[in-house]
Amino acid sequence: MRIDILTVLPDLLKSPFEVSIMKRAQEKGLAEIHIHNIRDYSTHKNKNVDDYQYGGGAGMVMSIEPIARLIEKLQGEREYTEIIYMTPDGEVLDQGIANELSLKGNMIILCGHYKGVDERVRMKYITKEISIGSYVLSGGELAAAVLVDSVVRLLPGVLNDETSALTDSFQDNLLSPPVFTRPPEFEGMKVPDVLLSGDFKKIEEYREKEAYRRTKERRPDLLKDE
Ligand code: 6GU
Repeated sequence: MRIDILTVLPDLLKSPFEVSIMKRAQEKGLAEIHIHNIRDYSTHKNKNVDDYQYGGGAGMVMSIEPIARLIEKLQGEREYTEIIYMTPDGEVLDQGIANELSLKGNMIILCGHYKGVDERVRMKYITKEISIGSYVLSGGELAAAVLVDSVVRLLPGVLNDETSALTDSFQDNLLSPPVFTRPPEFEGMKVPDVLLSGDFKKIEEYREKEAYRRTKERRPDLLKDE
């Protein structure tokens, strides 16, 4: 899967993809992540990428021309199945959306800034609009990093233990059960006996019960879906 991210702040996006799982996914050739500076596609002498909004009002709007130039250049080079705009008024990201996107082909992700992009960008190019929650970020970059991480880790072969994405929180609409490692006791706090018992059936039952209990307590909304 190739992912092209369009931004006015490329520096903000570089490091998340240069470490850990995102780095390994690229080294293994499972994901290719390219970051493009929209400013490089401005034809203004000052490399402007935004302008005052029609009708007046505070805040600049991202112009269509440099974005159109960049998107059309990329589309001329390969096929894209989604062109996603990161925006607080988009559909709220959840595991279902991440799963869906992980099964698709290449995607372009446009990061919004200032007051957003000229509506005609959305009309002409955008196939999906995604938000990462009900709060405001200064731009779409951090949201794009969250989206890409949630998708790339699902690509076959990215995680070492193939089953580990399947047992993540949310994959079955349940939160994860508590986990422990050595030592078996710390300042009087003991690891539950069942986890030390070696009885895999009992351990599985314990984990299912705890996952359900935790979900009911912390995120009852997840249980209401089905
Ligand atoms: Cl995608 N962008 C911005 N600017 N703020 C957000 C967001 C996106 N998702 C949640 N808040």
